[in-house]
Amino acid sequence: MESAREIEETAEDFSSDTARWAAVQAGSAAAEGHFWTAVRTTGIYCQPSCPARLPHRANITFYDSREAAERAGFRPCKRCRPDQGPDARRQRARRPHRIGERVAALDWERITAEIDDRGYGLTGPLLTEAECRELAAVYDDDALYRSTVVMKRHGFGSGEYRYFRYPLPGLVEDLRQAAYSRIVPLANRWMEVTGQAQRYPEQLADFLAACHAAGQERPTPLLLRYGTGDYNCLHQDLYGDLAFPLQLAVLLDRPGMDFEGGEFVLTEQRPRMQSRAEVVPLVRGEAVIFAVNERPVQGGRGPYRVKLRHGVSRLRCGRRHTLGIIFHDAA
Ligand SMILES: [Fe+2]
Repeated sequence: MESAREIEETAEDFSSDTARWAAVQAGSAAAEGHFWTAVRTTGIYCQPSCPARLPHRANITFYDSREAAERAGFRPCKRCRPDQGPDARRQRARRPHRIGERVAALDWERITAEIDDRGYGLTGPLLTEAECRELAAVYDDDALYRSTVVMKRHGFGSGEYRYFRYPLPGLVEDLRQAAYSRIVPLANRWMEVTGQAQRYPEQLADFLAACHAAGQERPTPLLLRYGTGDYNCLHQDLYGDLAFPLQLAVLLDRPGMDFEGGEFVLTEQRPRMQSRAEVVPLVRGEAVIFAVNERPVQGGRGPYRVKLRHGVSRLRCGRRHTLGIIFHDAA
């Protein structure tokens, strides 16, 4: 497991305004110290990760140093304290609100046992309400995406999804790295018990380097948006020869309030048997981690493999957003 500090030091490029705005929207702690965000309407400047309400893009100016922001007449924010030194910042950054630390604090023994047992596991609340709202809101920010898929055009269902471009928003990047290193032991165990030679490296960066070397270079994390009547047909998220056997999805809206229907559904196809379906209840901010393609099941004569598919049942009303994190990149 990478420490939170190492995640913060994973080099990310914050030189463009687009990358900076994406970092601010995602509340990226990794962006701290790279630039400062000044808000014209309040006269205040902040850390990129300030937990206060997200300002309008049009009112923001980015500065390369806090001195430059102060010279321009801005005062330091009282919440995120950009005027404090890096040690104080680091101290604050170590608090468990950081996504890497929140991921580390989850009960991975229980979660991996659940995944092993039924093909999926639930994290309990993982993202905050503010993070969920912010992610759902950036769905419309075209600059963040490499492509948009209208499901009807491909027979995938009804609704839309958008693949992020690199660099990913800080929260998405940090969550992808942190979750990977927690589930990679289970992924390797599955390879072992099913007699497959594939082994996955401990760190996501090493696995992605292998994907990229194999020509799978395009990022696969995505945001999905469903409206009334929309649904997602049962499918598997495979994008090339290299695939990590687990993936993660976070529900960003409130079932029963923001939308009705729209349940996350998993089916399992067992050899020479009828398929079995599971409806997975999620709350806003909760992640489900599930098998991408297949998983081993212990049978009387040793383990056998079952095939999984996942989808979303029809929304009766409202709007539903999901963050999807797939660990392999796409060809
Ligand atoms: Fe999917």
